[in-house]
Amino acid sequence: MKLFLIAGARPNFMKIAPLIHILDNHSTIQTTIVHTGQHYDEKMSALFLDQLRIPDPEINLGVGSASHAVQTARIMERFEKVCIDYIPDMVMVVGDVNSTIACSLVAKKLNIPVCHYEAGLRSGDKAMPEEINRLVTDAISDIYFTTCKNADNNLLREGIPAEKIFMVGNLMIDSLVNNLVRAENKNVILHKINSGSTINFIDHFKPGKYAIMTFHRPSNVDDVETFTILVEQWLKVSENIPLIFPVHPRTLQNAKSFKLLKKLNSAPHIYLVEPIGYLDFLALMKDSLFVLTDSGGIQEETTYLKIPCLTVRKNTERPVTIYEGSNQLIKANKITEKVHDILKGNIKIGHIPKFWDGKTASRIVKILENTNLHN
Ligand code: UD1
Repeated sequence: MKLFLIAGARPNFMKIAPLIHILDNHSTIQTTIVHTGQHYDEKMSALFLDQLRIPDPEINLGVGSASHAVQTARIMERFEKVCIDYIPDMVMVVGDVNSTIACSLVAKKLNIPVCHYEAGLRSGDKAMPEEINRLVTDAISDIYFTTCKNADNNLLREGIPAEKIFMVGNLMIDSLVNNLVRAENKNVILHKINSGSTINFIDHFKPGKYAIMTFHRPSNVDDVETFTILVEQWLKVSENIPLIFPVHPRTLQNAKSFKLLKKLNSAPHIYLVEPIGYLDFLALMKDSLFVLTDSGGIQEETTYLKIPCLTVRKNTERPVTIYEGSNQLIKANKITEKVHDILKGNIKIGHIPKFWDGKTASRIVKILENTNLHN
């Protein structure tokens, strides 16, 4: 089987890494990594490939940033040519980014079977671009790899036959398990935004005495009112606990254009730093008192690490992290209140969901080995 593995944006790399490693020199499955180039900055892409030991992708479509329609169209146009040249037997897409929907559409129209890892997640919120990507990809895929029972139920409700759905667990947790020791031994150097100065993490922060935050969702950082509320809340929280904030490019651009960057910069205990690598983030996360975020993947990683996670969103496509894990959904204006609870020792730990055990890649490979492409 000639298998294309698609990755494009930062959160895709930790999902494909365990598969690449386990499929290296496989006797019947030959993998080709296709990077769409949706993310391209050194710190959003190459650093992740390097730290996750992913070899240089054989194919890079180099699409870069653009509006949703233009970016999706560019990926489709370029990926179609590649599919016609290489004729893969199967295309595997992961997650819910524009690269996921674009490549699955192209493959299906060329009658190439598609498997989707992280299928069936639903936030129920079609204002999120990711929700559209999930719905469309799952409407046309052939094999569905899911992370939890809830995702299976969503797919069944949408009419996907049970025999196409495989609950395999969580590839991101495979990456986490595979890299935790490396992260523990990493000497993390944080680069402060716009200043050229650096902070040696271990000298500045003690376990349990700091928190990390990440924000990049359009619903939070593209809206000036919400972004302003967030900044006010962060400033208050930082009076009680230092906040390390690796800033996503979208968030930095908006902080500048909404004139909020100066205010953030003036807070002595908010550490605005450039985006950091996978191992660095893991090192920071595992000893933090809590994480404040709007990310998808971090809700899962904190659940595995049993670190309280406050997710500033109206909904989540990953409810298992709430019912079983350490995650809570909160409103922007409630951050201070919720952090206060944590500082008082009111901490949600939860437990680790089924099959989030570091063995998901091997479950997927077994299923692929038994897949009859001519069905
Ligand atoms: C994308 C995904 C989102 C995911 C996030 C993780 C979609 C619809 N969104 O959102 O689901 O959670 O990645 O980061 O696919 N930029 C850079 N350098 C880069 C990449 C982007 O500076 O390497 C800047 C560009 O100005 C770009 C903006 O960041 O316009 C946003 O990037 P984009 O890929 O469009 O969306 P993300 O917000 O990163």
